[in-house]
Amino acid sequence: MMFRLNKKLLISISAAAALSLGLSACMENASPVGSNAPTKASIDGGVNYPVVNDKTGPYYINTNAHNADVKYGRTPTQAEYEEWNSDVMADGTGLPEGQGTAEEGEEVYEAKCVMCHGDFGSGGGGYPALSKGNAYDLHKTLTNQRIKPDTDGPVRVFGTYWPQASTLWWYIKDAMPHPLTDSLSDDEVYALVAYILNANEMEIDGVEVDDEYVLNREKFLKIKMPNRDGFEPNVAGPQGPENVRKFYANAKNFGGQTYDVKNPASRCMKDCQEPTAKVVYIQGAGISDFHPPLSTVRDLPKEKENTNFDAKKAYADNCAMCHDTGAAPAPGDKSGWAALTAKGMDKVYENGLKGTDTGMPAKGGSSLSDSQFKSVVDYILNQSK
Ligand code: HEC
Ligand code: HEC
Repeated sequence: MMFRLNKKLLISISAAAALSLGLSACMENASPVGSNAPTKASIDGGVNYPVVNDKTGPYYINTNAHNADVKYGRTPTQAEYEEWNSDVMADGTGLPEGQGTAEEGEEVYEAKCVMCHGDFGSGGGGYPALSKGNAYDLHKTLTNQRIKPDTDGPVRVFGTYWPQASTLWWYIKDAMPHPLTDSLSDDEVYALVAYILNANEMEIDGVEVDDEYVLNREKFLKIKMPNRDGFEPNVAGPQGPENVRKFYANAKNFGGQTYDVKNPASRCMKDCQEPTAKVVYIQGAGISDFHPPLSTVRDLPKEKENTNFDAKKAYADNCAMCHDTGAAPAPGDKSGWAALTAKGMDKVYENGLKGTDTGMPAKGGSSLSDSQFKSVVDYILNQSK
């Protein structure tokens, strides 16, 4: 510890020395002679130089400064370089032995992190949150789309979003606490990681990381982040670079627009727009017309349908209270349904989805998706043929 403090002190002293050296070096450079001598001072305090070889004054002076053999700073020693050039990989490379509990982590956290990252990592003050609650539950929010302004977007914090816990270990060790990087012991980092896992309500190998859970290297390597398979392309392993190349070869994978009609999948770098393209014009209050038109269709991922959807059960849960009690035609009531379907199936679905003023609530008052609702209707009608 002492050694490290001393080293830091030395570095900051040499930084101050560098600054003053650098300043005096600049001042020496600020008055070049010959044909490039300044003509007059400009109102902002700069100096106007004549244009020589297509170079204007300010750039000329900068070039000079960069080329000058200014003697400030020094090359880091091999030992310094190695101290800072640390990395912790998902496979455990670079991860030292050590251990700590969430309880110990809380103590360090309260002393060194809470002022920026908030209670239990809840964030605040413009600094990132480290937890928003149960990581496994909140992981599901990653597919949330902000379709309307008031819909909840994805929660992206360590627990829900990061694919590998090794990044957390490394990041804390190397970058935190913010003004005093690389100052925590390995045990303190293990304890902080345990604390953050605890705040994210995570478990390791089926065991909840509670206050007393002793996190060590071996257990750390068993952490499975909820979002470990959530990134595309998969950059891990020897196939990684090839996956990346393939992914980016197709512009559609990253929302790229292309007007290369012959090769719609390629990225268009040159002469891409259709020759008929006209300039955007603005009408009334807003930009309303583009040519070629801006796409208004967004390729949002389709809501995943549960393929195991059980129409019979959905009927029992959502429809039977009316349709099996005589309040509405029951499955199997051939004439009752024939009377309703006579107007055509489109209308039947529509009435069911939107509700009627003769007693059928919209979707029967259920929270089924449109297509789930329709499949319950199909189920009813299949019984009624
Ligand atoms: C002075 C404020 C400050 C303190 C103290 C601080 N941090 Fe940070 N922390 C930040 C800032 C700012 C960032 C974002 C940096 C960035 O994104 O470039 C950050 C980012 C992080 C992240 C990454 C979060 C993410 O999702 O991107 C982690 C993890 C973290 N800090 C942990 C800690 C821990 C553990 C401590 C205590 C040992 C700590 N921090 C102390 C300011 C602070
Ligand atoms: C609160 C009672 C109630 C519930 C719950 C209910 N229905 Fe109905 N439903 C009715 C009544 C009454 C009718 C007949 C009158 C009408 O069509 O407006 C009806 C008619 C319908 C029709 C025919 C619509 C038309 O007019 O073409 C469909 C289809 C239908 N229900 C499907 C369902 C399905 C599927 C569910 C469950 C997801 C369900 N209903 C739940 C009361 C209900």
